[in-house]
Amino acid sequence: MDLFSAVDTAPIQQEMEQLAERIDQLNYEYYMNDRSLVSDQEFDALLRRLQDLEQQYPELASPLSPTKRVGGEVNKAFRQVTHRFPMLSLGNTYSIEEIEEFESRTRRLLDGTPFSYTCELKYDGVAIGLTYRHGRLVQAVTRGNGAVGDDITLNAKTIPTIPLRLRGTFPDDFEARGEVVYPFEAFDAMNSQREADGLEPFANPRNAASGSLKLQDSAECAKRKLMFCMYFMMGPDENLLPDTHFGRLEWARQMGFKVQPYIQECRDINEIKAFIDHWDHARWELPFGIDGIVIKVNQTPLWDRLGLTAKSPRWAIAYKFKAERVSTPLLSISYQVGRTGKVTPVANLQPVWLGGTTVRRATLVNADFIQKMDIHIGDHLFIEKGGEIIPKVVGVDLDQRLPGTMPVAYVQFCPECGTPLLRVEGEAAHYCPNTDGCHPQIIGRLEHFVSRKAMDIESLGPERLELLYQAGLVRNIADIYDLQREQIIGLASDQSASIQDKSADNLLAAIEASKQVPFERVLFALGIRYVGEVGARKIARHFRTIDALLAASVDELAQVEDVGDVTARAVSQWFADPAHQAILQRLRLAGLQFTAQVAETSGPLQGYTFVVSGVFEHFSRDAIKADIEQHGGRIAGSISGKTSFLLAGEKMGPEKRRKAESLGVPIISETDYLKMLQ
Ligand code: IVH
Repeated sequence: MDLFSAVDTAPIQQEMEQLAERIDQLNYEYYMNDRSLVSDQEFDALLRRLQDLEQQYPELASPLSPTKRVGGEVNKAFRQVTHRFPMLSLGNTYSIEEIEEFESRTRRLLDGTPFSYTCELKYDGVAIGLTYRHGRLVQAVTRGNGAVGDDITLNAKTIPTIPLRLRGTFPDDFEARGEVVYPFEAFDAMNSQREADGLEPFANPRNAASGSLKLQDSAECAKRKLMFCMYFMMGPDENLLPDTHFGRLEWARQMGFKVQPYIQECRDINEIKAFIDHWDHARWELPFGIDGIVIKVNQTPLWDRLGLTAKSPRWAIAYKFKAERVSTPLLSISYQVGRTGKVTPVANLQPVWLGGTTVRRATLVNADFIQKMDIHIGDHLFIEKGGEIIPKVVGVDLDQRLPGTMPVAYVQFCPECGTPLLRVEGEAAHYCPNTDGCHPQIIGRLEHFVSRKAMDIESLGPERLELLYQAGLVRNIADIYDLQREQIIGLASDQSASIQDKSADNLLAAIEASKQVPFERVLFALGIRYVGEVGARKIARHFRTIDALLAASVDELAQVEDVGDVTARAVSQWFADPAHQAILQRLRLAGLQFTAQVAETSGPLQGYTFVVSGVFEHFSRDAIKADIEQHGGRIAGSISGKTSFLLAGEKMGPEKRRKAESLGVPIISETDYLKMLQ
């Protein structure tokens, strides 16, 4: 750098540090204390400013910047790392007697020294170790085999409950250990989306957490909403850490770690048993999965005296909850057909009480599962609920099997339309190939097409679609755009009230508004197997126009980021089908978007987030949302501290108003909105 072009970067660096500190603080309040201190817009502005500065002065960008939370960097390979301190596992047991033995043995070995225990939850997730130096996260490694694990630092940085820089005081060099869990709500949402996209759902939150930490694209990991529960602190110099486990976790909390509050100091076996009993029931109310209770000697200087066995410490033990298991008669098997034609067998069970709920149904997965379990007609099945919410069939109660019963014969014909089922080479599921004549497939595709993340035609719920289908008005997605006012007024069925003038108008307006839905969502709405929201976006942005997409070969499709061979083939087949081409042609004539728009990056509403509610004079609800987006604003589904405005139409519910008022979110009318644009 020559003298003339040298810029004094000190003030810039200072601004960047201040920004990072402020954003860290806001994140902390949001994720640890459920508090929003600023509006979404202010938060985004701070983050954007920091991103801009980092782009302009990459040499000043900190690897611990809060901008890393959104991910973006790609994990090329997960480097293998040797743990500085081996990650031991715990002795575990399902028996209370063994917990009693552990307790009396510990007492005997400690020979009169006063001590206590801590009891805490055994989180059901993936164990990781986080190394901090001078208060900064330097490395995150999975447990692996206990000696060597995978470096997942980039992905760990996207988890909001993992602090990147510590607060207050901290040891200069230590390791924080804990479990990455997938909270049920986020897990369910992610899995439903996967199923809707024709992808294989994850078997349970633990597998999903593990899969997420190994995602190549850290931006995808950022979207998974994982949580880190800290449960252990260690360092090269134990003397620098508090001398109780409880004290260490308390300190960790002050440093900014998420330490669950469900931890208790217990003085004797009765208190330990009471803690176990409590959580054996209360666990079903937690927002994440646990599979037991961990009991540790609280006074850390006693750990050395108790020592280790071959692979686990003698100062701790895990009590594992027995998966609750019952046996109940299998009454019948239903075969459900999804929108892709995939058939899922479901056991209809004699209702039975299990882990806090009544179980009536459980999936039998596919034909192989039924065969492997050797399920016979009239069998009693064992149903289990482990750490998860969903009950599973785990076996046949052979003691209850009557002689001479026959194994279940899998359906050969579609239970809905009678077409012979197919089983594609290499796939476990059976499919009904009658795509255009099988009721649940037709209705399922229509439902997907109008759903919120697709064309977002809110007023076309499942009942309405069924009504229009039964009336012969809508048999495929293109028919929706041919609907005429006089055809739908007065339509009614046993399940739904007749459609009145006003609601017919609303429906037609919503259909009209859907013509502005961008190409990527139209592509998603088509319901092509394996093409989810993300895949559709990437394909739309890659090819930009439907014509380019129609002309693409399988190889060209497979070149799109995140599109594999299977998806590429499915897309190519879908577009090659003349029936689909005819539908596309009709959709095109109806005026749907088949060209990707260049993203609107600026506009008068840039940086503002709106929640829209009620009925408007000049716009339908969808049209006003589209208008906001066109002017650079953002739409949110619910009011939070980050909402800039609640745009209120007529007949807005009182809840929304109250919430906005309590959070100090300005409420504006349609007229205010129009003025704003001027
Ligand atoms: S303490 C040396 N505490 O359970 C003791 N472990 O085999 C270190 N786990 O893989 C572990 N919740 O990942 C501890 N509250 C908790 C835990 C916990 C879950 C996991 C841990 C380990 C396994 C024990």
